[in-house]
Amino acid sequence: MTHIINGKEIAQNLRNNLKKEISKLKNKFGDVPGLAVIQVGNIAASSVYVKAKTKNAQEVGIEVIDHHLEGSVSEEELLKLINTLNNKNNVHGILVQLPLPEHMHEQTILDSIHPDKDADGFHPVNVGKLSIAAHNDENLLIPCTPYGCLIMLKDLNIDLVGKNAVVIGRSNIVGKPMAQLLIKESCTVTITHSKTKDLPGLCKNADIIIAAVGRPRMVKGEWVKEGAIVIDVGINRVEILKDGEKKTLLVGDVEYSEVEKKASAITPVPGGVGPMTIACLLRNTTIAFKNSFLK
Ligand code: GUN
Repeated sequence: MTHIINGKEIAQNLRNNLKKEISKLKNKFGDVPGLAVIQVGNIAASSVYVKAKTKNAQEVGIEVIDHHLEGSVSEEELLKLINTLNNKNNVHGILVQLPLPEHMHEQTILDSIHPDKDADGFHPVNVGKLSIAAHNDENLLIPCTPYGCLIMLKDLNIDLVGKNAVVIGRSNIVGKPMAQLLIKESCTVTITHSKTKDLPGLCKNADIIIAAVGRPRMVKGEWVKEGAIVIDVGINRVEILKDGEKKTLLVGDVEYSEVEKKASAITPVPGGVGPMTIACLLRNTTIAFKNSFLK
């Protein structure tokens, strides 16, 4: 029987634990973690994510400071806001929702966030620390989506050592940090992308497939080895016709109906990776808060 990985439930457990931890930290330090959330413009998907992040953060006892800026705001203005937040004692984590408007240089913005307040783990200092396996995970700010994927893999209680893992997608947000995390677990990692030759052939050899490519239902059943574990990071909106009406449907990067028959474990979309990403953001914010007392 294929195990359907319940990201919702695992994320709920994580949030419950964080809520308890934050309550204890409040008693100890007389303060709670503060997360500044910056959204620029009005991309519908970003508004959905920001709303969910804010709600989840508040529920575990994190104080959220929302900044919603006009899409026409200058890069200089945004950098000024980040600089102010970098220097505020009640702000322990800063999140800039991506993507940013085209007139901004994304990396310049991410680089301007103080590494100690980098709630997404996207700053070069934190990217570097993740790639140096000597650092202790407990204090690291790790990109949320790949860390959420790793937690789900660990929740399966399988031995990851020596497993063949294929990561589809080489983004800074998911693919590259995912590979780093799997290397730390002693997996043998293959990173693939749009120029990769024979992707189906590489996938067929994989014990673990992480699909983070942003192409609806790309990974087919025949690409997947019997018993493989498949984590679907994709969140794609596709139009379907239902009863003669156009509807939008959320689908992953995996052809779920086919792959489910082959995999030993698989994440659904929605209800798989999505809730884990948010839970890991709350984890990072709490770590940044704790780290601020170690200085
Ligand atoms: N846009 C898509 N995923 C993410 C994420 O994990 N963090 C931020 N800040 N923006 C995103």
